[in-house]
Amino acid sequence: MNVRPIEARDQAPLSAMLRQIEQFKPEEVAVAEELIEASIRDPQGSGYECLVAEDPGVVGYICFGLTPMTESTYDLYWIAVHPAVQGRGVGKALYGAFAEQLRKRGSAQVRIETSSKESYAATGGFYERLGFSVDGKLRDFYAPGDDLLIFYRKI
Ligand SMILES: CC(C)(COP(=O)(O)OP(=O)(O)OC[C@H]1O[C@@H](n2cnc3c(N)ncnc32)[C@H](O)[C@@H]1OP(=O)(O)O)[C@@H](O)C(=O)NCCC(=O)NCCS
Repeated sequence: MNVRPIEARDQAPLSAMLRQIEQFKPEEVAVAEELIEASIRDPQGSGYECLVAEDPGVVGYICFGLTPMTESTYDLYWIAVHPAVQGRGVGKALYGAFAEQLRKRGSAQVRIETSSKESYAATGGFYERLGFSVDGKLRDFYAPGDDLLIFYRKI
């Protein structure tokens, strides 16, 4: 498996992959696609960057960006792996390549905002395996009983 910066040719396979991930609602897919498009169109100025995993076709991606008004904190906006290969280390490899880039840039922190419902369903365990902990919680932020969780870690 190879992890590399996104290219324009990745846009269509990533859109197709996002539609196969049952955890994502259509409106979430639309936002994910906007960020992918922005990262391809203007990797320097848009505030969004993506790395893609290929094996040999596209099997996942990670989308991140320097958090506005911070010196060295990055937001991890999106990470997704094709359902056919989830649980085989692709997510970990994507995160590893992202963390490596941040180390080279001298960046120090990563923040992930997610809903508590989504977190309990799947992703919280994954983020904790990567060394994140829940450092913030806004109750009922998304809906009654659905909190905003802020996962955070130092690089
Ligand atoms: C969450 C996701 C990105 C993880 O990628 P993945 O390739 O399936 O995960 P990996 O195989 O790299 O797993 C890495 C580690 O996390 C653990 N892990 C993965 N998913 C987990 C889960 N749901 N609960 C607990 N641990 C989990 C693995 O056991 C592994 O642990 P290890 O280091 O001890 O071996 C992927 O499953 C996915 O795309 N899910 C749907 C989309 C989504 O919810 N994205 C996040 C919100 S944007």
